[in-house]
Amino acid sequence: MAKDKTTFTCTECGGTSPRWLGKCPACGAWNTLIESVAEAGPGKNRYSGAQFAGLNQAQAVMPLSAIEASDVDRTPSGIDELDRVLGGGIVEGGVVLIGGDPGIGKSTLLLQALDALQRAGLPTLYVTGEESGAQVALRSRRLGLDHSQVNVLAEIQLEKILATIESMQPAVAVIDSIQTVYSDQLTSAPGSVAQVRECAAHLTRCAKASGTAIVLVGHVTKEGALAGPRVLEHMVDTVLYFEGDTHSQFRLVRAIKNRFGAVNEIGVFAMTEKGLKGVSNPSAIFLSQHSEPVPGSCVMVTLEGTRPLLVEIQALVDTGGPSPRRLSVGLDKDRLAMLLAVLHRHAGVACMDQDVFVNAVGGVRISEPAADLAVMLSITSSLRGKALPRGFLAFGEVGLAGEVRPAPRGQERLKEAAKLGFSVAVVPKANAPKKPIEGLTIHAVERVEEAMNVVRGL
Ligand code: TYD
Ligand code: MG
Repeated sequence: MAKDKTTFTCTECGGTSPRWLGKCPACGAWNTLIESVAEAGPGKNRYSGAQFAGLNQAQAVMPLSAIEASDVDRTPSGIDELDRVLGGGIVEGGVVLIGGDPGIGKSTLLLQALDALQRAGLPTLYVTGEESGAQVALRSRRLGLDHSQVNVLAEIQLEKILATIESMQPAVAVIDSIQTVYSDQLTSAPGSVAQVRECAAHLTRCAKASGTAIVLVGHVTKEGALAGPRVLEHMVDTVLYFEGDTHSQFRLVRAIKNRFGAVNEIGVFAMTEKGLKGVSNPSAIFLSQHSEPVPGSCVMVTLEGTRPLLVEIQALVDTGGPSPRRLSVGLDKDRLAMLLAVLHRHAGVACMDQDVFVNAVGGVRISEPAADLAVMLSITSSLRGKALPRGFLAFGEVGLAGEVRPAPRGQERLKEAAKLGFSVAVVPKANAPKKPIEGLTIHAVERVEEAMNVVRGL
């Protein structure tokens, strides 16, 4: 294949340059030029290949009201928890990006899903760039998929992968992983931003044109973002993230973008010897099992998607050095600093000279501010060395003025806690239920000081 010329495009202003420069000649931004394929001459553009047939013709325009609003066609993957995050199943021509730490179970889950789809009679393709066919086969045996008919292609060159999808027309193709794929149109190394972006763009086009649903596996960087700076997230229809501690058994798959369904829905899995198994009733899996209440632990209810989850927040406050450390796992670090300031200013609890560590048990990541109250109570509990009573829980957002703000759908959270045997709750006033909930004593508070007083009196 004749090589198209490459050029360098600025990610800020879109300006181009024939060679790489540290500074964009158009807008003056530094380090923004990345390699891309130049359009090759008149009458032929980069998407003029056979797989893009029809894309270059002008299309009819019509008013919105004249377009039939049909719901998208979904094919359940056969794995309930995965279908839940996808919004019901895999969509024809849809592109899903799935990210997560190495070894968390991306390849395992996708192989299981492809096998289930293949068994349901849909042609599937698993493109592996990281492992050899033999390694994939080994994994499938370990998963108990001995007679799996999933088609495997060990290939990393984009053009060959596209040609295979073209000729085979699978219903679903998995690319494991997008960072290993390279196009020979570009000179940059596989895994570079330019390659990842270009390859993902071609695969997305291919999905739209052929109707094959494509799942891209993406690596995450140390900071936890998908490598290939966010550009991939904009291109695809759905972005899923794998979360969880590789040392613990449980894994969460979270939808952070979904053009075909709700976001923030989560799927919960347990890693077993036979691969990932869905956990259909996950509300109590993020609690550590203390036989006696311990200082520095407070349970909260978080609402992820449609299901409430009880999560234990742990804190350790210990005498620090000249510059005390603030560390959080699974919770926002900046928010922790803010909560410590509110705790000092409005409740008179000072941690200035103390190291403060907080952790959400089980590797779950909590982004909602409803965790604030539980974080504060676990910190004070650790500082005072006094455990919160058995069966205690708290949730609510805390503001800079020391006010406790309501969390969405408080009733559901409380009902779930009562179902699991929790007996005392400190919640924002607006979340207090009108009718009492059996077995649950509820203390409604409006301010942080009030919450501290309630806890002191328990
Ligand atoms: P893998 O799916 O290869 O992760 P990724 O593709 O996200 O890098 O990793 C799975 C991990 O889970 C690996 O450390 C081994 C373990 N595992 C099991 O515990 N049970 C199994 O049945 C399989 C296949 C893997
Ligand atoms: Mg893998």
